Amino acid sequence: MNALILGSGAREHALAHKLSESPLISKLFVAPGNGGTEREFENLPISLSDFETLASNILERNLELVVVGPEQPLVDGFVDFLQHHADPFFRTVHVIGPDQACAALEGSKDFSKQIMQEAGIPTAGARVFTVADWEELEHYIQQHALPVVIKADGLAAGKGVAVCTSHQEAIDFSASVLKDSVFGDQNSSVLVEEFLDGIEVSMFALCDGIHYQLLPEAKDYKRIFDGDKGPNTGGMGSVSPVPFVDNVFRQKVEDRVLKPLFQTLQKRGLHYKGFLFVGLMKVGDEPFVIEFNARLGDPETQTILNRIEGDLVPAFLSVRDQTLDQHPIQVKNMAVATIVLCAEHYPDTPAKGDAMEISESAANGKIYLAGAVQKDGILVTSGGRVASCTGMGARPEEALSQAYALVEAVRFRGMQYRRDVGKDVWGN
Ligand code: AMP
Ligand code: GLY
Repeated sequence: MNALILGSGAREHALAHKLSESPLISKLFVAPGNGGTEREFENLPISLSDFETLASNILERNLELVVVGPEQPLVDGFVDFLQHHADPFFRTVHVIGPDQACAALEGSKDFSKQIMQEAGIPTAGARVFTVADWEELEHYIQQHALPVVIKADGLAAGKGVAVCTSHQEAIDFSASVLKDSVFGDQNSSVLVEEFLDGIEVSMFALCDGIHYQLLPEAKDYKRIFDGDKGPNTGGMGSVSPVPFVDNVFRQKVEDRVLKPLFQTLQKRGLHYKGFLFVGLMKVGDEPFVIEFNARLGDPETQTILNRIEGDLVPAFLSVRDQTLDQHPIQVKNMAVATIVLCAEHYPDTPAKGDAMEISESAANGKIYLAGAVQKDGILVTSGGRVASCTGMGARPEEALSQAYALVEAVRFRGMQYRRDVGKDVWGN
């Protein structure tokens, strides 16, 4: 069958690689894709907000499997658009991604918190305020323990959360969201949330509305500089496995997070189909949910897909008919590390348009492209996160040395990357 992947990052390039290994896939398209997916697959230059053109391409090219990479089209209702389309073909398409009501787990932090509270899922305590409650909000923040976490309710391109070490900072950030609408009008409320002190880990599941299969976990490195210094980014690297995620921890996440979550969604008539990303904080030995996302993580995907044994497509094709329980996902007992290569001045004002070279000797491991396009036959940088170098091996040090060898094989002006990926959890 022919398949379509939506998105343009290294996550989507990695998904395309994984899908292309399946004997069930004949032709693979990526929309809009990047310079890497253009070289290996076929890009469709369509905006992810243009549902009509996406749908007409799905129909005309007979794309029977659609995997949605980023959150925006999910939160905007792309899956519902296909489900309710006048042409019955769309109800036969296998779509990996939740509908709008379920994607609100990522799209609205208020909704997500309500579901967690109703389901009894361990999470930080929080209260919601709108601009109408401004005086109460100020008063509430003033007496809140520090640090205090302020979260804009809606999507905010990864910038909607501030961990504040002073009350004034928390009030100023709340004002920027509620009064100055820096993240747009969809962010008309904020959550004031307790700070959780612990170690973060990203866990993932593929879900069919009834069943789920856990995928490998990963640790993400969010700050730009070594030692977790400097501003937050989309993610500078990832590793898997994360040693503290043992069977006991995994069972706690299933029993206290996933099972109550799906029960609570089902009670509301919601059937979550697609990838679920559970952002967790391990506090002591216990998992607390920081956030749910309606998709896979970037750069976690580049790492975890390389730990999945065999073909993922049969599991994808079981989601529509809710038979995912018959497709256990096997995880390889190996180590994988991803190092993200970023443009100069990322994350503030990333440089663009620099020529990029990848040495032909880069044979082992994988280089997935993101902010890079093909121009006059050469690769040129086009965004903040330019590429992901993924190394693998039986042991963490092999994965890291392969990943950093790939970093050496890539060249562009002003390239930035972290040199300490994996050190905290793997101890290398
Ligand atoms: P999010 O956009 O929800 O992923 O939040 C961004 C980052 O803020 C997370 O990855 C955490 O590092 C941090 N964060 C969010 N909520 C909390 C919390 N309640 N306690 C501590 N850190 C948090
Ligand atoms: N790496 C974190 C994310 O994809 O949101």
